Amino acid sequence: MPQWRQGLTKSLHHTRSMPESRYFQLATVDDKGLPFCRTVVYRGLTEDNQLIIISDTRSEKFKQLQDNGHAHVCWYFAKSREQYRFGCKATLVTWDNDSELLAFHWRKLSDAGKKQFLWGEPGTPRNDGSALHVEGSFEKVPPHFCVILLTIETVDYLSLRGNPQYREWHQKDAMGNWISQSVIP
Ligand SMILES: Cc1cc2nc3c(=O)[nH]c(=O)nc-3n(C[C@H](O)[C@H](O)[C@H](O)COP(=O)(O)O)c2cc1C
Repeated sequence: MPQWRQGLTKSLHHTRSMPESRYFQLATVDDKGLPFCRTVVYRGLTEDNQLIIISDTRSEKFKQLQDNGHAHVCWYFAKSREQYRFGCKATLVTWDNDSELLAFHWRKLSDAGKKQFLWGEPGTPRNDGSALHVEGSFEKVPPHFCVILLTIETVDYLSLRGNPQYREWHQKDAMGNWISQSVIP
């Protein structure tokens, strides 16, 4: 297991009582080449170092990642005062390419979580004061539900705990092995 992954596992464990430690910022590039950033929920890490998030194929992030799979993640653990920045490459998983994986993540959602995928197209105008109507069944995975896998390619770790602070770079060598380098913060 790469060294950074052991650290991340520890950070998640130390901050397990804080729901906000499960959120990170995901940055993408839009069709004009401009940065675009939003918060998402961490849903796990695959054995081959892919961060798992769930989303909607009708969202900007999905369209942006379709055009340009490069993404950047910034994740701060307030309790342990650690920041991880991941350079990532996205893989988009839809019903057409892995229905089993989608069904698995859909089943794990609460009804409140499922509702967010059933009340209409994200980003379209909402008539003032109108209630949002849930359309579709909680049992059936909606066609726009998707999983985004973010393969971690580089890691920039910073810990603010000590004085001086501690920063470390992790990247893969030509053979695909993770190498680490402590750097000046
Ligand atoms: C705490 C928090 C967690 C969120 N988690 C997710 C998530 O896991 N997946 C998602 O698609 N959007 C999530 N959102 C909403 C996104 O931040 C964003 O507003 C929405 O997905 C539209 O983004 P886009 O237009 O950039 O695609 C979350 C927002 C907050 C504040």
